[in-house]
Amino acid sequence: MSEPFERAKALFFDCLAHLESGRLIEAEQAFSESLALVPGRASTLSNLGVVRRRLGRLDGALAAFDELVRVQPEQAEAWLCRGEVLLQLDRHEEALADYDRCLAIDPNRALAWSRRGSLLRLAGRLEEAADAFKRALTLGDDSETTRYFLASVAERQAPPAVAPAGYVQSLFDDYADDFDHHLVDVLHYDVPQRLLGPLAGRRFAQALDLGCGTGLCAPLLAPLAAVVDAVDLSERMVAKARERGLYRDVTQADLVAHLQTTERRYDLVAAADVFIYIGDLAPVFAGVRRVIEPGGVFAFSAEQGDEARDFVLRPSLTYGHSSNYLKRLAAEHGFEVADLQPHALREDQRRPVPGWLVWLRQTA
Ligand SMILES: C[S@@+](CC[C@H](N)C(=O)[O-])C[C@H]1O[C@@H](n2cnc3c(N)ncnc32)[C@H](O)[C@@H]1O
Repeated sequence: MSEPFERAKALFFDCLAHLESGRLIEAEQAFSESLALVPGRASTLSNLGVVRRRLGRLDGALAAFDELVRVQPEQAEAWLCRGEVLLQLDRHEEALADYDRCLAIDPNRALAWSRRGSLLRLAGRLEEAADAFKRALTLGDDSETTRYFLASVAERQAPPAVAPAGYVQSLFDDYADDFDHHLVDVLHYDVPQRLLGPLAGRRFAQALDLGCGTGLCAPLLAPLAAVVDAVDLSERMVAKARERGLYRDVTQADLVAHLQTTERRYDLVAAADVFIYIGDLAPVFAGVRRVIEPGGVFAFSAEQGDEARDFVLRPSLTYGHSSNYLKRLAAEHGFEVADLQPHALREDQRRPVPGWLVWLRQTA
């Protein structure tokens, strides 16, 4: 065997050792050197692409997978890998074409069907998206999330009660760094100001921020209440919220579970743009009733739904609620409606998303 080949092979095994120990930068260097010695070797290209992707070097990862599909066009995995990077780069049409190439070679790839479904959902091709999600489910793809995706595009599917926790966690863990800029500057999100602004001048003892995210409500809650606590599912959002230094405690938990177990009591509970991930709000209302002091205020936003149904799950993967449902839940849980107003929550594909701003007072 030739010397460069032996050297490339030795380097390749070094890379795997680096990878196993999590030394990604060293692994990337060693894979690159190995590739320079034996260009076009599929296993090296594949690993190089994976490592670069894990390092967040998406253009470099794409270059490796471009070469991989050139040398191994008959391998479904190569197209799947390149599709994943194109998807991360928001190059949706090209990504869809790669998932289709992958599925043409191996139609049993559940992940490729699920990704195809998501891309068709975003393109508004809802029936084809539903077919793709059904195929993914048949092939054993992560069923809770895929069922949720399917329900968002198939009118006749009953929507699940809540978004899957794993889906919410990974969505917001990935979104945490860009969240404030994207939501406020790009999507023109002003719910914290519109929801909490009208309470200015009131004084509360203890406030709870449900689904606090990075803590955009915190600067508005801090002047209103002596102490403010918060809860959120996403680890990275919780870390951002804690960095603000405006909350007493930020708990990483499902908000319903937290409401059912916390020993603390509050006279203000706020939830800004969180109920879009919860369809059935009865457990939330029961939990808020458990922790709220008599006369306490429960202020929240919700997306508008279909007035003929309690809640709907939209292709945008958000729940909308009818105003009648919100009013009925309020009455059933001992709240009176102080105010309920329509308000555009944020933009989606440059169009305002109609929502509700709701202020309830605990009476019973
Ligand atoms: C759109 S963000 C809004 C964040 C913040 N309230 C604001 O106004 O900027 C929704 C947040 O709700 C959290 N969330 C969604 N479902 C949740 C649940 N069941 N329990 C706790 N947090 C949840 C997400 O992790 C995310 O941080």
